Amino acid sequence: MTAPLIGIHDLAVATAGHVLELDDLAAATGVDPGKFHIGLGQDQMSVPGPDEDIVTMGATAARRIIDRHGVEGIRTVFFATESGVDQSKSAGVWVHDLLGLPSTSRVIELKQACYSATAALQAAAGLVAREPGSKVLVIASDVARYELDSAAEPTQGAGAVAMLVTADPALLSIEPATGLHTAHVDDFWRPNDSVTAVVDGKLSIDAYLDGFVGAWDDYRAHGGADIDEIDVFTHHQPFTRMAAKAHRRLAEHLGTELSEDRYLRSTLYNRRIGNSYTASLYFGLAALLDGDDDLTGKRVGMFSYGSGSVSEFFAGVVQSGYREHTRADETAELLAARTRVDVPAYRALHAAAHLGSRQDVTVPAQSPWPYHFAGVRGRARQYSADRT
Ligand code: COA
Repeated sequence: MTAPLIGIHDLAVATAGHVLELDDLAAATGVDPGKFHIGLGQDQMSVPGPDEDIVTMGATAARRIIDRHGVEGIRTVFFATESGVDQSKSAGVWVHDLLGLPSTSRVIELKQACYSATAALQAAAGLVAREPGSKVLVIASDVARYELDSAAEPTQGAGAVAMLVTADPALLSIEPATGLHTAHVDDFWRPNDSVTAVVDGKLSIDAYLDGFVGAWDDYRAHGGADIDEIDVFTHHQPFTRMAAKAHRRLAEHLGTELSEDRYLRSTLYNRRIGNSYTASLYFGLAALLDGDDDLTGKRVGMFSYGSGSVSEFFAGVVQSGYREHTRADETAELLAARTRVDVPAYRALHAAAHLGSRQDVTVPAQSPWPYHFAGVRGRARQYSADRT
Protein backbone atom coordinates (compact mmCIF):
# COMPACT_ATOMS: atom_id res chain seq x y z
CA MET A 1 0.00 0.00 0.00
CA THR A 2 1.43 3.40 -0.92
CA ALA A 3 1.61 6.02 1.82
CA PRO A 4 -0.92 8.86 1.42
CA LEU A 5 0.24 12.31 0.43
CA ILE A 6 0.34 14.62 3.45
CA GLY A 7 0.39 18.39 3.40
CA ILE A 8 -1.55 21.65 3.49
CA HIS A 9 -5.24 21.15 2.91
CA ASP A 10 -6.23 24.77 3.54
CA LEU A 11 -4.42 28.00 4.33
CA ALA A 12 -5.86 31.32 5.54
CA VAL A 13 -4.24 34.59 6.57
CA ALA A 14 -4.91 37.52 8.88
CA THR A 15 -3.13 40.74 9.69
CA ALA A 16 -3.39 43.76 11.98
CA GLY A 17 -6.09 46.42 11.59
CA HIS A 18 -3.90 49.45 10.82
CA VAL A 19 -1.46 50.15 8.02
CA LEU A 20 1.41 52.62 7.74
CA GLU A 21 2.54 53.64 4.25
CA LEU A 22 6.33 53.54 4.21
CA ASP A 23 6.23 56.69 2.04
CA ASP A 24 4.85 58.44 5.14
CA LEU A 25 7.64 57.02 7.31
CA ALA A 26 10.21 58.08 4.71
CA ALA A 27 8.83 61.65 4.66
CA ALA A 28 8.77 61.86 8.46
CA THR A 29 12.32 60.55 8.87
CA GLY A 30 13.93 62.24 5.86
CA VAL A 31 14.78 58.98 4.11
CA ASP A 32 14.59 58.54 0.33
CA PRO A 33 11.48 56.35 -0.22
CA GLY A 34 13.50 54.34 -2.77
CA LYS A 35 15.43 52.84 0.13
CA PHE A 36 12.24 51.28 1.45
CA HIS A 37 10.58 50.34 -1.85
CA ILE A 38 13.69 49.16 -3.72
CA GLY A 39 16.44 48.69 -1.11
CA LEU A 40 14.23 46.78 1.35
CA GLY A 41 11.39 45.79 -0.98
CA GLN A 42 8.70 47.04 1.39
CA ASP A 43 5.72 49.33 0.64
CA GLN A 44 3.60 49.22 3.80
CA MET A 45 3.53 47.67 7.24
CA SER A 46 0.60 46.39 9.28
CA VAL A 47 0.37 47.93 12.75
CA PRO A 48 -1.64 46.29 15.55
CA GLY A 49 -4.16 48.30 17.55
CA PRO A 50 -4.46 47.98 21.35
CA ASP A 51 -6.99 45.12 21.03
CA GLU A 52 -4.83 43.06 18.65
CA ASP A 53 -2.05 40.59 19.29
CA ILE A 54 -0.82 37.18 18.16
CA VAL A 55 -3.87 35.48 19.68
CA THR A 56 -6.45 37.66 17.91
CA MET A 57 -4.67 37.44 14.55
CA GLY A 58 -4.12 33.69 14.92
CA ALA A 59 -7.77 33.13 15.84
CA THR A 60 -8.97 35.29 12.93
CA ALA A 61 -6.89 33.31 10.42
CA ALA A 62 -7.88 29.94 11.90
CA ARG A 63 -11.57 30.94 12.02
CA ARG A 64 -11.61 31.05 8.22
CA ILE A 65 -10.39 27.46 8.13
CA ILE A 66 -12.86 26.25 10.77
CA ASP A 67 -15.71 27.94 8.87
CA ARG A 68 -14.82 25.86 5.80
CA HIS A 69 -13.96 22.52 7.39
CA GLY A 70 -15.41 22.42 10.90
CA VAL A 71 -13.48 21.23 13.94
CA GLU A 72 -13.96 17.50 13.46
CA GLY A 73 -10.73 15.51 13.40
CA ILE A 74 -8.53 18.30 14.83
CA ARG A 75 -6.61 16.73 17.71
CA THR A 76 -3.54 18.97 17.70
CA VAL A 77 -3.00 22.73 17.53
CA PHE A 78 0.55 23.99 17.04
CA PHE A 79 0.97 27.71 17.68
CA ALA A 80 4.26 29.05 16.31
CA THR A 81 5.44 32.49 17.42
CA GLU A 82 8.41 34.50 18.63
CA SER A 83 6.28 37.29 20.08
CA GLY A 84 4.63 35.22 22.79
CA VAL A 85 2.26 36.96 25.21
CA ASP A 86 2.95 34.66 28.17
CA GLN A 87 6.04 32.84 29.39
CA SER A 88 4.11 29.72 30.33
CA LYS A 89 0.76 29.35 28.61
CA SER A 90 0.54 28.61 24.90
CA ALA A 91 -1.19 31.36 22.94
CA GLY A 92 -2.88 28.44 21.21
CA VAL A 93 -4.95 27.68 24.31
CA TRP A 94 -6.71 31.05 24.00
CA VAL A 95 -7.27 30.37 20.30
CA HIS A 96 -8.60 26.92 21.15
CA ASP A 97 -11.12 28.57 23.47
CA LEU A 98 -12.10 31.37 21.09
CA LEU A 99 -12.73 28.90 18.26
CA GLY A 100 -14.52 26.28 20.36
CA LEU A 101 -12.10 23.52 19.39
CA PRO A 102 -12.60 20.03 20.90
CA SER A 103 -11.35 19.50 24.46
CA THR A 104 -9.91 16.21 23.17
CA SER A 105 -6.93 17.98 21.64
CA ARG A 106 -3.36 18.92 22.52
CA VAL A 107 -2.21 22.53 22.17
CA ILE A 108 1.36 23.75 22.31
CA GLU A 109 3.43 26.82 21.44
CA LEU A 110 6.69 26.47 19.52
CA LYS A 111 9.56 28.96 19.53
CA GLN A 112 12.70 29.35 17.47
CA ALA A 113 12.56 32.87 16.02
CA CYS A 114 10.95 32.96 12.56
CA TYR A 115 11.54 29.23 11.96
CA SER A 116 9.13 27.48 14.32
CA ALA A 117 6.09 27.27 12.00
CA THR A 118 8.15 25.01 9.78
CA ALA A 119 8.96 22.74 12.72
CA ALA A 120 5.21 22.74 13.43
CA LEU A 121 4.38 21.83 9.85
CA GLN A 122 6.88 18.96 9.83
CA ALA A 123 5.67 17.68 13.21
CA ALA A 124 2.08 17.93 11.95
CA ALA A 125 2.97 15.89 8.88
CA GLY A 126 4.49 13.25 11.19
CA LEU A 127 1.35 13.07 13.35
CA VAL A 128 -0.90 12.77 10.31
CA ALA A 129 1.35 10.02 8.88
CA ARG A 130 0.80 8.06 12.10
CA GLU A 131 -2.95 8.64 12.10
CA PRO A 132 -4.02 9.54 8.52
CA GLY A 133 -7.60 10.39 9.51
CA SER A 134 -6.48 13.11 11.93
CA LYS A 135 -5.97 16.81 11.21
CA VAL A 136 -3.52 19.28 12.70
CA LEU A 137 -4.13 23.02 12.89
CA VAL A 138 -0.87 24.96 12.54
CA ILE A 139 -0.99 28.66 13.36
CA ALA A 140 1.93 31.03 12.80
CA SER A 141 1.33 34.48 14.28
CA ASP A 142 3.69 37.32 15.10
CA VAL A 143 4.13 41.03 15.69
CA ALA A 144 7.51 42.37 14.55
CA ARG A 145 8.34 45.36 16.71
CA TYR A 146 11.67 47.21 16.86
CA GLU A 147 12.91 50.39 18.50
CA LEU A 148 11.66 53.61 16.89
CA ASP A 149 14.30 55.30 14.71
CA SER A 150 16.33 52.09 14.46
CA ALA A 151 17.49 50.70 11.09
CA ALA A 152 15.00 47.86 11.52
CA GLU A 153 11.97 50.16 12.07
CA PRO A 154 10.78 50.04 8.42
CA THR A 155 10.87 46.23 8.54
CA GLN A 156 8.21 45.88 11.23
CA GLY A 157 4.84 44.25 10.52
CA ALA A 158 2.24 41.84 11.84
CA GLY A 159 0.33 38.86 10.54
CA ALA A 160 -0.83 35.30 10.96
CA VAL A 161 -1.19 32.26 8.73
CA ALA A 162 -3.28 29.24 9.70
CA MET A 163 -2.87 25.91 7.91
CA LEU A 164 -4.82 22.70 8.14
CA VAL A 165 -2.50 19.71 7.70
CA THR A 166 -4.15 16.50 6.51
CA ALA A 167 -3.69 13.43 4.34
CA ASP A 168 -4.68 13.89 0.67
CA PRO A 169 -4.33 17.69 0.91
CA ALA A 170 -6.16 20.00 -1.49
CA LEU A 171 -3.37 22.61 -1.80
CA LEU A 172 0.17 21.31 -1.36
CA SER A 173 1.68 17.93 -0.54
CA ILE A 174 4.85 18.22 1.53
CA GLU A 175 7.69 16.04 0.25
CA PRO A 176 9.70 14.05 2.82
CA ALA A 177 13.16 15.30 1.75
CA THR A 178 14.35 18.15 3.89
CA GLY A 179 17.59 20.05 4.49
CA LEU A 180 18.62 21.38 7.91
CA HIS A 181 21.21 23.80 9.28
CA THR A 182 21.70 25.08 12.82
CA ALA A 183 24.41 27.51 13.94
CA HIS A 184 24.66 29.57 17.11
CA VAL A 185 24.73 33.26 16.19
CA ASP A 186 23.60 36.42 18.01
CA ASP A 187 21.93 38.07 15.01
CA PHE A 188 18.48 38.62 16.51
CA TRP A 189 16.75 37.92 19.81
CA ARG A 190 14.26 39.40 22.27
CA PRO A 191 15.29 39.42 25.93
CA ASN A 192 12.58 38.48 28.45
CA ASP A 193 12.35 42.07 29.69
CA SER A 194 11.87 43.69 26.28
CA VAL A 195 8.86 44.21 24.00
CA THR A 196 11.15 45.04 21.10
CA ALA A 197 13.59 42.66 19.45
CA VAL A 198 17.34 43.27 19.37
CA VAL A 199 18.73 42.82 15.88
CA ASP A 200 22.14 43.05 14.24
CA GLY A 201 20.63 43.42 10.77
CA LYS A 202 23.80 43.03 8.72
CA LEU A 203 24.85 39.94 10.68
CA SER A 204 21.35 38.49 10.24
CA ILE A 205 21.60 38.85 6.47
CA ASP A 206 24.91 36.93 6.41
CA ALA A 207 23.63 34.29 8.86
CA TYR A 208 20.47 33.85 6.76
CA LEU A 209 22.48 33.36 3.56
CA ASP A 210 24.85 30.89 5.26
CA GLY A 211 21.81 29.02 6.60
CA PHE A 212 20.25 28.91 3.14
CA VAL A 213 23.30 27.41 1.49
CA GLY A 214 23.82 24.98 4.38
CA ALA A 215 20.20 23.83 4.31
CA TRP A 216 20.22 23.52 0.52
CA ASP A 217 23.32 21.30 0.55
CA ASP A 218 21.77 19.12 3.25
CA TYR A 219 18.51 18.96 1.26
CA ARG A 220 20.38 17.65 -1.77
CA ALA A 221 22.36 15.20 0.38
CA HIS A 222 19.06 13.83 1.68
CA GLY A 223 17.50 13.15 -1.70
CA GLY A 224 16.00 16.59 -2.38
CA ALA A 225 15.09 17.66 -5.92
CA ASP A 226 17.66 19.17 -8.25
CA ILE A 227 17.49 22.91 -8.88
CA ASP A 228 15.92 22.40 -12.33
CA GLU A 229 13.10 20.37 -10.76
CA ILE A 230 12.02 23.24 -8.51
CA ASP A 231 9.58 25.46 -10.37
CA VAL A 232 9.00 28.29 -7.91
CA PHE A 233 10.50 29.41 -4.61
CA THR A 234 9.33 31.14 -1.50
CA HIS A 235 11.58 32.25 1.33
CA HIS A 236 11.32 33.69 4.80
CA GLN A 237 11.12 37.42 4.08
CA PRO A 238 12.17 39.72 6.98
CA PHE A 239 11.97 42.31 4.15
CA THR A 240 11.19 41.09 0.68
CA ARG A 241 14.53 42.10 -0.83
CA MET A 242 15.98 39.31 1.34
CA ALA A 243 14.34 36.83 -1.05
CA ALA A 244 16.27 38.43 -3.92
CA LYS A 245 19.52 38.17 -1.97
CA ALA A 246 18.83 34.50 -1.16
CA HIS A 247 17.93 33.64 -4.74
CA ARG A 248 21.11 35.29 -6.00
CA ARG A 249 23.24 33.52 -3.40
CA LEU A 250 21.85 30.12 -4.37
CA ALA A 251 22.53 30.84 -8.04
CA GLU A 252 26.14 31.76 -7.19
CA HIS A 253 26.51 28.68 -5.01
CA LEU A 254 25.31 26.44 -7.82
CA GLY A 255 27.13 28.37 -10.57
CA THR A 256 23.92 28.80 -12.53
CA GLU A 257 21.39 31.45 -13.58
CA LEU A 258 18.12 31.60 -11.63
CA SER A 259 15.44 33.88 -13.05
CA GLU A 260 13.74 36.16 -10.54
CA ASP A 261 10.41 35.02 -12.05
CA ARG A 262 10.82 31.92 -9.91
CA TYR A 263 10.21 33.80 -6.63
CA LEU A 264 8.95 37.32 -7.37
CA ARG A 265 5.24 36.61 -6.99
CA SER A 266 5.91 35.23 -3.47
CA THR A 267 6.78 38.71 -2.21
CA LEU A 268 3.47 40.46 -2.98
CA TYR A 269 1.72 40.03 0.37
CA ASN A 270 4.85 40.54 2.46
CA ARG A 271 5.55 43.85 0.70
CA ARG A 272 2.27 45.11 2.17
CA ILE A 273 2.25 43.42 5.58
CA GLY A 274 5.89 43.74 6.62
CA ASN A 275 7.69 41.11 8.63
CA SER A 276 5.36 38.60 10.22
CA TYR A 277 8.23 36.41 11.46
CA THR A 278 6.92 32.80 11.67
CA ALA A 279 4.14 33.56 9.19
CA SER A 280 6.30 35.32 6.60
CA LEU A 281 7.32 32.22 4.60
CA TYR A 282 3.70 31.09 4.50
CA PHE A 283 2.44 34.50 3.34
CA GLY A 284 4.91 33.89 0.50
CA LEU A 285 3.30 30.53 -0.22
CA ALA A 286 -0.18 32.12 -0.09
CA ALA A 287 0.89 34.76 -2.59
CA LEU A 288 2.19 32.09 -4.98
CA LEU A 289 -0.96 29.99 -4.75
CA ASP A 290 -3.24 33.03 -5.16
CA GLY A 291 -1.41 34.21 -8.31
CA ASP A 292 -2.62 34.00 -11.90
CA ASP A 293 -0.10 31.35 -12.99
CA ASP A 294 -1.45 27.81 -12.91
CA LEU A 295 0.91 25.97 -10.57
CA THR A 296 -0.82 22.59 -10.78
CA GLY A 297 1.80 19.84 -10.38
CA LYS A 298 4.60 22.37 -9.83
CA ARG A 299 7.19 21.92 -7.11
CA VAL A 300 7.53 24.84 -4.65
CA GLY A 301 10.91 25.15 -2.88
CA MET A 302 10.54 26.67 0.57
CA PHE A 303 13.27 28.18 2.72
CA SER A 304 12.61 28.78 6.40
CA TYR A 305 15.05 30.77 8.55
CA GLY A 306 14.90 31.61 12.24
CA SER A 307 17.63 33.78 13.69
CA GLY A 308 19.84 32.37 16.30
CA SER A 309 19.80 30.28 13.99
CA VAL A 310 17.87 27.34 12.49
CA SER A 311 17.27 26.89 8.76
CA GLU A 312 15.30 24.36 6.74
CA PHE A 313 14.81 23.90 3.02
CA PHE A 314 12.00 21.64 1.86
CA ALA A 315 9.53 21.39 -1.00
CA GLY A 316 5.91 20.67 -1.79
CA VAL A 317 3.89 19.84 -4.89
CA VAL A 318 0.82 21.90 -5.81
CA GLN A 319 -2.24 19.66 -6.08
CA SER A 320 -4.64 19.52 -9.00
CA GLY A 321 -7.82 21.49 -8.32
CA TYR A 322 -6.00 23.74 -5.83
CA ARG A 323 -7.45 26.88 -7.37
CA GLU A 324 -10.87 25.98 -6.04
CA HIS A 325 -9.41 26.38 -2.55
CA THR A 326 -7.32 29.57 -2.80
CA ARG A 327 -8.27 32.91 -1.29
CA ALA A 328 -6.99 35.83 -3.40
CA ASP A 329 -10.23 37.83 -3.06
CA GLU A 330 -10.49 37.23 0.68
CA THR A 331 -6.89 38.36 1.22
CA ALA A 332 -7.36 41.45 -0.98
CA GLU A 333 -10.38 42.41 1.15
CA LEU A 334 -8.41 41.82 4.34
CA LEU A 335 -5.59 44.12 3.24
CA ALA A 336 -8.03 46.77 2.06
CA ALA A 337 -9.92 46.68 5.39
CA ARG A 338 -6.95 48.06 7.34
CA THR A 339 -7.19 51.66 8.56
CA ARG A 340 -4.40 53.92 7.35
CA VAL A 341 -2.52 55.66 10.16
CA ASP A 342 -0.12 58.58 9.93
CA VAL A 343 3.29 58.52 11.60
CA PRO A 344 2.20 60.13 14.93
CA ALA A 345 -0.70 57.66 15.22
CA TYR A 346 1.61 54.73 14.42
CA ARG A 347 4.07 55.93 17.06
CA ALA A 348 1.28 56.16 19.64
CA LEU A 349 0.26 52.57 18.85
CA HIS A 350 3.90 51.48 19.10
CA ALA A 351 4.15 53.06 22.58
CA ALA A 352 0.87 51.45 23.67
CA ALA A 353 2.53 48.05 23.33
CA HIS A 354 4.35 48.65 26.63
CA LEU A 355 1.46 47.17 28.58
CA GLY A 356 2.30 45.42 31.85
CA SER A 357 0.25 42.89 33.81
CA ARG A 358 0.39 44.49 37.29
CA GLN A 359 -2.73 46.63 36.92
CA ASP A 360 -6.18 45.59 35.79
CA VAL A 361 -7.08 47.33 32.56
CA THR A 362 -9.95 47.15 30.07
CA VAL A 363 -9.20 47.54 26.36
CA PRO A 364 -12.21 48.44 24.17
CA ALA A 365 -12.80 46.38 21.02
CA GLN A 366 -12.01 48.38 17.89
CA SER A 367 -10.36 46.22 15.22
CA PRO A 368 -12.49 45.08 12.26
CA TRP A 369 -11.80 41.40 13.05
CA PRO A 370 -13.92 39.05 15.20
CA TYR A 371 -11.52 38.58 18.15
CA HIS A 372 -10.14 41.17 20.55
CA PHE A 373 -7.63 41.44 23.36
CA ALA A 374 -9.89 42.85 26.10
CA GLY A 375 -7.32 43.74 28.76
CA VAL A 376 -5.87 42.27 31.94
CA ARG A 377 -7.76 41.09 35.02
CA GLY A 378 -6.00 39.57 38.02
CA ARG A 379 -2.81 39.52 35.91
CA ALA A 380 -4.51 37.23 33.34
CA ARG A 381 -5.05 38.27 29.73
CA GLN A 382 -8.68 38.52 28.66
CA TYR A 383 -10.10 38.06 25.17
CA SER A 384 -13.53 38.71 23.70
CA ALA A 385 -15.23 37.34 20.61
CA ASP A 386 -17.82 39.01 18.38
CA ARG A 387 -18.70 35.46 17.37
CA THR A 388 -17.82 31.91 18.36
N1 COA B 1 17.15 53.69 -3.41
C1 COA B 1 17.33 52.38 -3.58
N2 COA B 1 18.03 51.58 -2.73
C2 COA B 1 18.57 52.17 -1.64
C3 COA B 1 18.44 53.56 -1.41
C4 COA B 1 17.69 54.34 -2.36
N3 COA B 1 17.51 55.66 -2.20
N4 COA B 1 19.08 53.85 -0.27
C5 COA B 1 19.61 52.69 0.20
N5 COA B 1 19.29 51.68 -0.64
C6 COA B 1 19.63 50.26 -0.50
C7 COA B 1 21.03 50.03 0.01
O1 COA B 1 21.98 50.13 -1.03
C8 COA B 1 20.90 48.63 0.58
O2 COA B 1 20.95 47.71 -0.48
P1 COA B 1 21.84 46.36 -0.35
O3 COA B 1 21.17 45.53 0.68
O4 COA B 1 21.80 45.78 -1.73
O5 COA B 1 23.22 46.77 0.10
C9 COA B 1 19.47 48.62 1.13
O6 COA B 1 18.81 49.73 0.51
C10 COA B 1 19.41 48.81 2.63
O7 COA B 1 20.17 49.92 2.95
P2 COA B 1 21.15 49.91 4.22
O8 COA B 1 21.84 51.22 4.31
O9 COA B 1 21.99 48.66 4.19
O10 COA B 1 20.02 49.79 5.35
P3 COA B 1 20.11 49.90 6.90
O11 COA B 1 21.50 49.91 7.41
O12 COA B 1 19.25 51.05 7.26
O13 COA B 1 19.42 48.52 7.42
C11 COA B 1 18.52 46.31 7.46
C12 COA B 1 18.81 47.55 6.59
C13 COA B 1 17.83 45.26 6.62
C14 COA B 1 19.85 45.74 7.99
C15 COA B 1 17.61 46.75 8.66
O14 COA B 1 16.39 47.25 8.15
C16 COA B 1 17.31 45.62 9.61
O15 COA B 1 18.10 45.33 10.51
N6 COA B 1 16.15 44.97 9.46
C17 COA B 1 15.76 43.80 10.27
C18 COA B 1 16.34 42.55 9.64
C19 COA B 1 15.84 41.32 10.34
O16 COA B 1 14.71 41.27 10.73
N7 COA B 1 16.69 40.32 10.49
C20 COA B 1 16.33 39.16 11.26
C21 COA B 1 15.58 38.14 10.54
S1 COA B 1 16.34 37.49 9.14
